[in-house]
Amino acid sequence: MVAVMTPGASAVRDLHVAIIMDGNGRWATERGLPRVDGHRRGAAVVRRVVEGAATLGIGTLTLFAFSSDNWRRPRAEVATLMALFGEYLEEHASACVRAGIRVALIGRRDRLPSSVRRSAERVETATAAGRVLLLRLAIDYSARDAIARAAERAVRLGHFSREAFADAVARGDGPAPGLPDVDLVVRTGGERRLSDFLLWECAYAELWFTDVAWPDFTTEDLGRALDDFARRERRFGALPAAPATAGEPNL
Ligand code: FPP
Repeated sequence: MVAVMTPGASAVRDLHVAIIMDGNGRWATERGLPRVDGHRRGAAVVRRVVEGAATLGIGTLTLFAFSSDNWRRPRAEVATLMALFGEYLEEHASACVRAGIRVALIGRRDRLPSSVRRSAERVETATAAGRVLLLRLAIDYSARDAIARAAERAVRLGHFSREAFADAVARGDGPAPGLPDVDLVVRTGGERRLSDFLLWECAYAELWFTDVAWPDFTTEDLGRALDDFARRERRFGALPAAPATAGEPNL
């Protein structure tokens, strides 16, 4: 049982949690397995953690599944990852519809295998009415690229508004509304960096790192991250709220 120390369910429902799922390769190598076995196990963990996030009441979950720099990996590893994305999108469409999970891809689509692109479009359409959890899969994603493309779009359109720009950064090519602010970033696998993930949206995000490799990550770990997040004081650049003094008027 995960104890989630949050101010209330509705506050959790508004949370945007973003996860950098790192450590698949090392997890496999340490066990004498090919790296792709770590990704396969990682895909199974994605299924469980997405269900867990919905159970914990998180409103938006963004998963970093494939960075634009990951194209530099060996061809066979990239092919396995693309196959896993396609399988996930195909196999989970109806479960997501039933669970009220809306799925949307962020990132570039033009370099994805057409089968993955088509599966993504099908799932996005089928799950568009989901209101329990918005699951955003960052595939071929680079935050710098997302920001640069939003700027290009503003130039092309010939007008700029901050809101439209932030929306374009966060939405990418996807249909789901832009969600500029990330509340909590979780990174597994022991590294402590953002790796070009949601740089604009993480301006005031809290960061939570764990040495646990993604293939060993559980919903309980996610609950621990939320417990820790609930204890953080978020000031957004302002001063801490003054403690209320009993009996004194708040002039
Ligand atoms: C980073 O670990 C992980 C990735 C590049 C891929 C993430 C993919 C999955 C978790 C599986 C499939 C996902 C979905 C959405 C179905 P790494 O390989 O960089 O690990 P290392 O740092 O130990 O080498």
